[in-house]
Amino acid sequence: MKAVRVLEYGRQLVFNDVPTPTIARDEILVKIKSTAVNHLDLVKASGTARQILPIDLPWIPGHEFSGVVEQIGSDVAAYAPGDAVFGANEIGGAYAEYLTVKPAIIARKPSNLSFEEAASAPVAAQTAWQGLFTHGHLEKGQTILIHGGAGAVGGYAVQLASHAGATVTATASGADEAYLKSIGASQVIDYREAQFEKVLRKKVDVVFDLIGGETQKRSFLVLKEGGHLVSSTQPVSKEETATHRVSGEMMRLAPSAEVLGRIARLLEEGTIRPDVATVYALPDAAQAWKDIAGNLPGVHGMSPSGPRAARRGSHGKIVLRVQSA
Ligand SMILES: NC(=O)c1ccc[n+]([C@@H]2O[C@H](COP(=O)([O-])OP(=O)(O)OC[C@H]3O[C@@H](n4cnc5c(N)ncnc54)[C@H](OP(=O)(O)O)[C@@H]3O)[C@@H](O)[C@H]2O)c1
Repeated sequence: MKAVRVLEYGRQLVFNDVPTPTIARDEILVKIKSTAVNHLDLVKASGTARQILPIDLPWIPGHEFSGVVEQIGSDVAAYAPGDAVFGANEIGGAYAEYLTVKPAIIARKPSNLSFEEAASAPVAAQTAWQGLFTHGHLEKGQTILIHGGAGAVGGYAVQLASHAGATVTATASGADEAYLKSIGASQVIDYREAQFEKVLRKKVDVVFDLIGGETQKRSFLVLKEGGHLVSSTQPVSKEETATHRVSGEMMRLAPSAEVLGRIARLLEEGTIRPDVATVYALPDAAQAWKDIAGNLPGVHGMSPSGPRAARRGSHGKIVLRVQSA
């Protein structure tokens, strides 16, 4: 099969032929239609975080995908060849024509979504879900501040929190205000123009921090006592949580068929919607990485957000089309 691979840390992506994977009894072979680009792909490939995010080289990037079941192992009962599915995994491998997966990390693709749209959802939507509900314990009637609301994870977090009956404030670039209000934010604070802790009139129950660094540090000032700070980017200071009498933790996505199944239903009924910024063909993965590299808000547990290199110019995910529908 054709695949995009990283042969050495920090080196160029290579697109060529590799052996097609074979399935174990409890696995499914998915013929990939689309995959999507995540910061995690670039971070792992760079080797800068190899202590906490190791990969085996050569490595095929790609933590999310949509596709069609090609073959099932003898122990698999829930799916059959021909089923359209989508999902996310922790190890990568989706920048390729075929991927082996366990049923525990996939769900049926929402029928109203294209394969490109479906591939854009599993990482961002599940991260948002688990950040809000599993770690943030967000409930109806509560208030939440989402940092990076116009990003891939943030867009789902705003939609899911608003759908759950929470009042949502998001920080983002001013240009994204109308978009964020259209998906459920009550208030948008332009992080380039204002300091959120000076603009917010009341403290919030939950902060979902998709940025890190100073943004996380200042977030303690706007959390109610007993509130929750959930970060997707870096560990949360135990001293700060104790001082402010709040709880705080860094989350890591744990792909789940159950959570993805719920997200699939919300997508299917149109309650939440995906956001695809650009679609590239798989061999153009290197260009997609260039587009995203200037927009890295921080590396998992490693560094706070720094000055932006270049703005991508639009919200939404970058998708790689592997096979045409
Ligand atoms: N822990 C996990 O399991 C997990 C899972 C998924 C993602 N992540 C991490 O979560 C973070 C967000 O991911 P993503 O895919 O949503 O990123 P993304 O799509 O690149 O979005 C980042 C957003 O943050 C905005 N932004 C930048 N600086 C900001 C600031 N100081 N205040 C408010 N907004 C700011 C950007 O806006 P502008 O472009 O206008 O500046 C952009 O809209 C990344 O670090 C990613 O690696 C972690």
